[in-house]
Amino acid sequence: MYNIAVLPGDGTGPEVVDEALKVLTAVAKLRGFEFCTTRYDFGGDRYLSTGKIIDDADITELRRYDAILLGAVGHPDVAPGVLEKGLLLKLRFDLDQYINLRPVKLYPGVECPLAGKTPADIDFVVVRENTEGLYTGAGGFTYKGTPNEVAMQIMCNTRHGVERCIRYAFELTRKRNRKKMLTLCAKTNVLTFAHDLWWRAFNEVGEEYPDIKKDYAHVDATCMWMVKNPEYFDVIVTCNMFGDIITDLGAMIQGGMGVAAGGNINPVGVSMFEPIGGSAPKYTGKSVINPVAAVAAMAMMIENLGEIEAAHAVETAIMSVTANKMKSMSAGKMGHSTSQVGDLIVEALPDGGNA
Ligand code: IPM
Ligand code: MN
Repeated sequence: MYNIAVLPGDGTGPEVVDEALKVLTAVAKLRGFEFCTTRYDFGGDRYLSTGKIIDDADITELRRYDAILLGAVGHPDVAPGVLEKGLLLKLRFDLDQYINLRPVKLYPGVECPLAGKTPADIDFVVVRENTEGLYTGAGGFTYKGTPNEVAMQIMCNTRHGVERCIRYAFELTRKRNRKKMLTLCAKTNVLTFAHDLWWRAFNEVGEEYPDIKKDYAHVDATCMWMVKNPEYFDVIVTCNMFGDIITDLGAMIQGGMGVAAGGNINPVGVSMFEPIGGSAPKYTGKSVINPVAAVAAMAMMIENLGEIEAAHAVETAIMSVTANKMKSMSAGKMGHSTSQVGDLIVEALPDGGNA
């Protein structure tokens, strides 16, 4: 029995989470496992009515779950940064979800903006460091508001944090067993302290993995190759900020925010899975948003819980729906409503989801 905390969040989050849970219910029945969910209303609406975002007691409570499924964070009436920092980043940091795992995979039938590229060309994984780098909030102002103002944002890299991320990426590359190539994406030619640490850790940890090819690309070149030769990549490991940026590019080449899923992983604690796209306020409540990313995030969640075959069944069902049933991955252009896409994925499971 898996205990899952569900955080639908803001905007279209609740709509897409409902579809993910619909598919989860069907696949659990099919594969014979049980789960129970507890919903939490953390997000913009709760903040606006109570002034509360998420506190340490809430975090303590969340530690008791086997996994967390998150919808979306971001509210048009809340200043930028408040919920991002107070909710999403707090969860990632406090639960020590030090890996942000973001597969970039073009599903069949999904339109790709790169000319001539097919699902055979776009299938790699980004391992983004998720608890340090430019995201720790370290820094400050001096002479704020004056012409002499200084604003500093510190890029924090610890040997411990960098090394555990790199080691996770090597293990994943081995487990994936494809090209067996791990690319370090950094900027060693400019970040001569921060990314020197990454470079040394990468090479030292890499010695433990003689079967894995060690590759390096600067972040700007990584962007270039992701567009020109995405088939080159197998697994990419990178710092928090670069990972944030290149995975938006990754989402675009895999068909958009409607399909991109990710996992915030603590390999020895509670992990949290989310569609990468935001809360899409303008589409809220219209049943036009694409739930594929949320369903794919749920598949990553059950894979992480050990339900490998169930996860595989969900991904296969998603691919059959993108290939045969959906007109587009864009909101409002799918040829179906949000809940119809959820139904189609259920129907595409073995036995039509009626085990
Ligand atoms: C993401 C988002 C977040 C990030 C924001 C909302 C803080 O862009 O999950 O990629 O920068 O990590
Ligand atoms: Mn982002």
